[in-house]
Amino acid sequence: MKLLVTGGAGFIGSAVVRLAVTRGHEVVNLDALTYAACLENVAPVADSSLYSFEKADIRDRPALDRIFAAHKPDAVMHLAAESHVDRSIDGPAAFIETNVTGTFNMLEAARSYWESAGRPETFRFHHISTDEVFGTLGATGQFTEETPYAPNSPYSASKAASDHLVRAWHETYGLPVVLTNCSNNYGPYHFPEKLIPVVILNALAGKPLPIYGDGSNVRDWLYVEDHADALLLVLEKGALGRSYNIGGENERSNLELVQTLCDILDEKRPREDGKAYAAQITFVRDRPGHDARYAIDPERIRTELGWRPSVTVEEGLARTVQWYLDNEDWWRPLLNRDGVGKRLGA
Ligand SMILES: NC(=O)c1ccc[n+]([C@@H]2O[C@H](COP(=O)([O-])OP(=O)(O)OC[C@H]3O[C@@H](n4cnc5c(N)ncnc54)[C@H](O)[C@@H]3O)[C@@H](O)[C@H]2O)c1
Repeated sequence: MKLLVTGGAGFIGSAVVRLAVTRGHEVVNLDALTYAACLENVAPVADSSLYSFEKADIRDRPALDRIFAAHKPDAVMHLAAESHVDRSIDGPAAFIETNVTGTFNMLEAARSYWESAGRPETFRFHHISTDEVFGTLGATGQFTEETPYAPNSPYSASKAASDHLVRAWHETYGLPVVLTNCSNNYGPYHFPEKLIPVVILNALAGKPLPIYGDGSNVRDWLYVEDHADALLLVLEKGALGRSYNIGGENERSNLELVQTLCDILDEKRPREDGKAYAAQITFVRDRPGHDARYAIDPERIRTELGWRPSVTVEEGLARTVQWYLDNEDWWRPLLNRDGVGKRLGA
């Protein structure tokens, strides 16, 4: 299959690109190369004859039309987005422009291409979204595909809006879409402004490990390569117009998560003074509108498509820490990018 992947130089998009090329798909990676992008993320497959790159912005409709016409993809996997909640609090405009208007442009460019090709039923527009569109949970319960949308941050509201557009383009124009809403991802190539890389890299640098509020906020963690595997499965086997929640049933409070990362580091790279990395944990002012708990019910993707994650969160976190220990050449230059290492969205 020939896939047009947007946001393929980002964290999850690059995992999709690497996996898709490895599985023999042709991939066109469309990315504007914002502060969050890194072409090194796709270096393992960049020399493959199956891979090509188009630097383009999804806010630029003529560029999208040109790329569809030039590459004639069988399917779109749309991941390009502004993705950092804290940045959305400080500067929501970019989130509306890319996540809402950009998705609108992608839908219109895809629709125009699909209609001019005779509306092939085999075409797919796969929209990749987040569980944050569902808002927050109390101590119990899980998000299902039927959970009403109740986004609380500018980021999640912009993603919710884009999900609604994708649904409407299916209902109104018949565009063959599938949607997925996934829980928090972690793993290799995670940009060092997100919690897990921040904790690993601050720990190694002897800096405070910042935890928002009291650390009781719960997230449901999924290894990024398991997410990429689920995305390709939904693309190939998902029912038209259907959405699938993706999660690993790995709930951890932020405090538990950071403690686990400290324990792994204590074992793999003990501090020179012999103290535990947990001594660096610091509680900082909470994020406004911070959702208390996310948890995914993955029953639909499990029973209808037979998907299961391949690694436990313990294995995945150990692999991730090891990856950061082994790949300083990747992360060190990213620490100089705009906003990295600063408290945003306070
Ligand atoms: N990170 C998570 O835990 C998570 C969980 C569920 C869903 N998602 C969704 O998955 C997708 C990818 O997330 P990520 O964490 O890999 O994000 P990321 O920030 O690491 O990467 C986003 C990529 O999109 C590109 N991009 C941004 N604006 C663009 C524009 N206007 N035109 C073209 N390219 C643009 C960036 O250059 C970057 O390469 C997003 O849609 C996000 O909402 C993320």
